[in-house]
Amino acid sequence: MKDIETRVRDLMDKMTLEEKIGQTRQCGPSLVGAFEVDFSELLNMMFDGRISKEKFDELMAGAHQDLKEDDIRAGKIGSFNGVKGAEQVRTIQKIAVEESRLGIPLIIGSDVIHGYRTVTPIPLGESCAWEPSLWERTARISAEEAAADGIKWTFAPMVDVAKDARWGRISEGAGEDALLNGLYGAAKVRGFQTDDPSAKDSIAACVKHFAAYGAVEAGRDYNRVDMSEQKLREEYLPSYKASVEAGALTVMPAFNDISGVPCSCNSMLLTDILRKEWGFKGMTISDANAIAELVNHGAAADNAEAAAKAMEAGMDMDMTSEAYIENLAELIRSGAVSEEALDRAVADILRVKFELGLFDDPYYMAEDDPENHFLKPEYRTLAREAAQKSIVLLKNENVLPLNRGIRLGICGDLAGERAEMTGTWSINAVGDDCVSITDACEAQALPYTWFKTDLTAESGSFETLAKDCDVFIAAIGERKDESGEAASRTSIELPAEQIHMLEKLIATGKPVIAVVFNGRPLALTWVNDNVPAILEAWHPGVEAGNAILDLVFGDVNPSAKLTASFPYNAGMCPVYYDHINTGRPGGRGKFTSKYLDAPLTPVYPFGYGLSYTTYEYSDLQAEVTAEGIQVCVKVTNTGACAGDEIVQCYFRDPVAERVRPVRKLAAFDKITLQPGETKAVSFLIKKEQLGYWNSKMQFVVDSGDIEVYAGGCSTTELKAVVTI
Ligand code: BGC
Repeated sequence: MKDIETRVRDLMDKMTLEEKIGQTRQCGPSLVGAFEVDFSELLNMMFDGRISKEKFDELMAGAHQDLKEDDIRAGKIGSFNGVKGAEQVRTIQKIAVEESRLGIPLIIGSDVIHGYRTVTPIPLGESCAWEPSLWERTARISAEEAAADGIKWTFAPMVDVAKDARWGRISEGAGEDALLNGLYGAAKVRGFQTDDPSAKDSIAACVKHFAAYGAVEAGRDYNRVDMSEQKLREEYLPSYKASVEAGALTVMPAFNDISGVPCSCNSMLLTDILRKEWGFKGMTISDANAIAELVNHGAAADNAEAAAKAMEAGMDMDMTSEAYIENLAELIRSGAVSEEALDRAVADILRVKFELGLFDDPYYMAEDDPENHFLKPEYRTLAREAAQKSIVLLKNENVLPLNRGIRLGICGDLAGERAEMTGTWSINAVGDDCVSITDACEAQALPYTWFKTDLTAESGSFETLAKDCDVFIAAIGERKDESGEAASRTSIELPAEQIHMLEKLIATGKPVIAVVFNGRPLALTWVNDNVPAILEAWHPGVEAGNAILDLVFGDVNPSAKLTASFPYNAGMCPVYYDHINTGRPGGRGKFTSKYLDAPLTPVYPFGYGLSYTTYEYSDLQAEVTAEGIQVCVKVTNTGACAGDEIVQCYFRDPVAERVRPVRKLAAFDKITLQPGETKAVSFLIKKEQLGYWNSKMQFVVDSGDIEVYAGGCSTTELKAVVTI
């Protein structure tokens, strides 16, 4: 068979200008009904109160989907997002393959972010497992389910380093560290695509949102990003680069601008860095409507100029704005956009379609009912494992683990609401697939009473029933729509009614365990001060209740560690471990870098997490080698039960031309230790990890001292110094 490049060229030779432009268009099915505005406007009308929710539902009930079949037939569509189910995909694919002039298959995309039907923990939660092989395995089952249902492309992984808990989308990535996000992204790419993206159950990954979307000013979604190129390259680009190097077939530029140039028309990002420096050969797709939004940014006068700027910058496909399909032909005829730019875009798109095997097997979806491929027992087992490894034990004053047989007071609405367990971006989830805490208690026939957040219960008053409870498990935190896209917050404290519930529980004098569900680090200051045991559960997915009880009863020893700092309050945001020192590091003195009304440090730092056992670190050795710094540290399980410990290695370059962070994560490992057991753990800090961009934009590795740290948290003081 001819190689892919030849097949791409042969096909392009046959294409008309209109057919080429058609390939750059991704659309969704439009909703048609008894309303005159388009669907997104209708949604806005409901959100801003111009129509009631009831009116909206009534209009939706009478609406039907227009799959734009004539446009597919005419070769005017390259891709769809938002098509539901294998049958619908088969229908439109058949039109593309059998009825369009050149038979070019569609590529069907969707946001499969943390599971398709088998929803696993939100990415921020799953990142707390610090386990690339787990991240890869969960991506694999997402791909298997999605492909069975007709999806061949996911808009994931999101690897936006996020240091600001106010930003709702912090939930979708792996937290505040670049290295972790890169490893997370690369693992997801491998899991989605495998070594053979053309396999029936492989789907293309899309690394997003390129770049630095997590740095939006004040944590407000879609806001500006203004930063030096050095900071961009050191703290934000490495996670995208690592994911691209893992072979991601597609990349999605971000909504935001960087230093005044929106990413959607940023040729430095899309051409110079992504393609020329990193050698990316796949395709880029805009974020939803982002090309047309260049007009709102003030970067283009109208959609035509927006299309021209995006295309020339290196944006291959237009997600739903229609700026390309409506303007490119004229722009090319007038010479405002070069034909080479369009040809590059079309070649990128076709290359991905060939690599995905779409020309050879456009009907990769399940032939039987896709339901047969969802939620297999082994998928549920993996979802449970992922949740167990994501839940962080934040505090434990001799409360956990509990003995079975104890009478439980399960408190809070979230303890019984299945659909809330899926978290943000779980568009194919079915709420009833989830096991809530009360479901798990029921299934295990545990003696329990469920109180709602206002402490009402079905079978009697709190005062009477609480006497029969030995311990309270209080489900607190956020609902799933309180994080994710367009869900930024200026207050990240718990709602008053949850604090009120906790106060009443504490007043009983019985032990209270807080189980926190959330999509972002919350300001758990009050909870930390008042509640003796805290489990950070995130939104844990379909096996939520089972995994939580596994930890509560000690069947599984908690091992997860935070990948994002938990601020004292929102005013402290952004707060992160790899900050610089300033000339007046925070301390006791008046004129130091600190707040008058809050401590300097977060409530829980990056890398923090407890276990039912304890670990001791000793004997840190560091030695300079030709490759970098060889590090070895001993870790001993000093407690009474076996456990998994995430061993972390950091470094600091204490004197440099451009000041360096006080700590930088260099490597980590997860080890299992039996009680009393000691293991030596080795790391290599590669020479290039020590480097940075100097003021002249040269990448340099300084000679001089390097401090090396190892321990179970970013605050570890165990240190060795080497000279390079
Ligand atoms: C989000 C993307 C997502 C896209 C497609 C956008 O609003 O920013 O992350 O992939 O929608 O659904």
